[in-house]
Amino acid sequence: MAWHFRRVIAEQVARVLGLPSERVAHCIRTVPVHRKHESPDFQLFMTSLGDPIDTSINHEERAQQLAGKLVCDSVISDIGTARASVTFKINRDLLTRTVLQQISKDGSIYGLNTELFSGLSGRKTVVEYSSPNIAKKFHVGHLRSTIIGNFIANLKQAVGNEVIRINYLGDWGLQFGLLGAGFSKFGSEEELVVNPLQHLFEVYVKVNTAAEEDKDIKLSAQEFLRRLEGGDPHALSLWMHFRDLSIQEYAKVYKRLGAHFDDYSGESFYKEKSQEVLKQLESNGLLQKTDKGTGVVDLSEEGNLSSYSTVMRSDGTSLYITRDVAAALDRLERYSFDEMIYVTDKSQKNHFQQLFKILKILGKDQADRFQHVPFGLVKGMKTRRASKQLEDPSDTAEKIGIAALIVQDFKGQLLSDYHFDWDQALQSTGDTGVFLQYTHARLHSLQALWCSRDTDDIDIASLREPCVIATLQHLLRYDEVIYKCLEDLQPRYLVTYLMSLGHLANVAHRALHVKRSSSEAAHARLFFFNNVRMVLSSGMKLLGISPVNNM
Ligand code: ARG
Repeated sequence: MAWHFRRVIAEQVARVLGLPSERVAHCIRTVPVHRKHESPDFQLFMTSLGDPIDTSINHEERAQQLAGKLVCDSVISDIGTARASVTFKINRDLLTRTVLQQISKDGSIYGLNTELFSGLSGRKTVVEYSSPNIAKKFHVGHLRSTIIGNFIANLKQAVGNEVIRINYLGDWGLQFGLLGAGFSKFGSEEELVVNPLQHLFEVYVKVNTAAEEDKDIKLSAQEFLRRLEGGDPHALSLWMHFRDLSIQEYAKVYKRLGAHFDDYSGESFYKEKSQEVLKQLESNGLLQKTDKGTGVVDLSEEGNLSSYSTVMRSDGTSLYITRDVAAALDRLERYSFDEMIYVTDKSQKNHFQQLFKILKILGKDQADRFQHVPFGLVKGMKTRRASKQLEDPSDTAEKIGIAALIVQDFKGQLLSDYHFDWDQALQSTGDTGVFLQYTHARLHSLQALWCSRDTDDIDIASLREPCVIATLQHLLRYDEVIYKCLEDLQPRYLVTYLMSLGHLANVAHRALHVKRSSSEAAHARLFFFNNVRMVLSSGMKLLGISPVNNM
């Protein structure tokens, strides 16, 4: 498949230019499919080969010179140039056979196991995402973090990394003091069991309002938190009860979204460890006390506190960032990962920059293994409407709804804000998740006509139509698209790719009859469609979509 062809082309080019063929292979790219005319399959940009020895000629001339020295063979059927690149066309029979056989052999790992990923696999990656706060709202930012984090984890895993998925629950803090103090007044054990998230939130809102007017409630909330922090068994068991019920509830939401976690260690897990962090900072002379009694870490280059991070309250307790430092240190030790990725909305950008800087100041040279993937705000989406929209007894309808949500969310650059529109997201035509599901279901329905036979017996040569060639060329590009997604952790390349694959498949479906064709041709076509469906399905799954078989 793609890599096999790249290697054959690279060997010849390498011989002519006297370069290592491995390096050349990495510079060869597939060519985007053209709507109107047949494009070549591969392209080598002269600029990607580095600076020429003879700088008196430009890249266009270099391309022409190189093309003039290359010859067609049993694999390459045509060589040309396009501006500063040399273009290659692969023998049509070979292209068809190789791509289709490779897909049917590799199945769901097609395009994910090529040499293109040699430097990007075999590593250990921790991805932290979703991380809602118990008793507070699971808002659209958490929803976004869930689907984006899930995509990144899927992607990293698909190309051969060991991935650990963490949900850093906001399961500590004053809200538990309020809940603990207010539950006996406003809570109901029955309602808690029926709908824990909703009920805890209601109680939280009620005590919060009551605490604003009633000093005693505020005091008893603080008192409850102190008891919690002090390890009072009664307070802890109530906290644990709220936490367990909430996690069970979240797990249901995650299941519907196709997300899962290996670990739910949240902020509560790090409350003691963050005291150790404060000690460590102090003993290294990095903790400075302010007039107000708080503790800060100087982050400025000049050492004049022109930028700093507050890591300790005046009563000695830790803050959000302190717990994050503790969590980062603990994860480094526990997982000894190669990379750790945090997925949150962009408002926390500064927080993570500070976190990484503190790790560096603490002398952790692994600080550069940490990365924050920020995303923009979503306007116009109420999570309640989202769950209403998805509240359908049928499994298929739910999968379609989630596909709609994911595609709408993944279409643009993650960092951009966007306006969510259900009516648009749920259209069956246009670039929507519904369109992808619809295309998948159509391709799947063809399989009823298929009786499996040895792939060697399939009349590959009968697959010559331009719509087939265009689709095969597109299938050839799959690994490069995945590579791009990995490079900057953005799903939009894959979304665009799958939309084009869907359109190509639909054009081919209209043009190539199966029922009215001879048995040989029908079989070849069914084989082709099944391979298209497999790649579509594998790409959709990476995005976090479960493909449906009928609609
Ligand atoms: N619980 C936080 C929130 O809802 C997000 C946590 C992000 N992760 C972290 N390590 N700080 O805003």
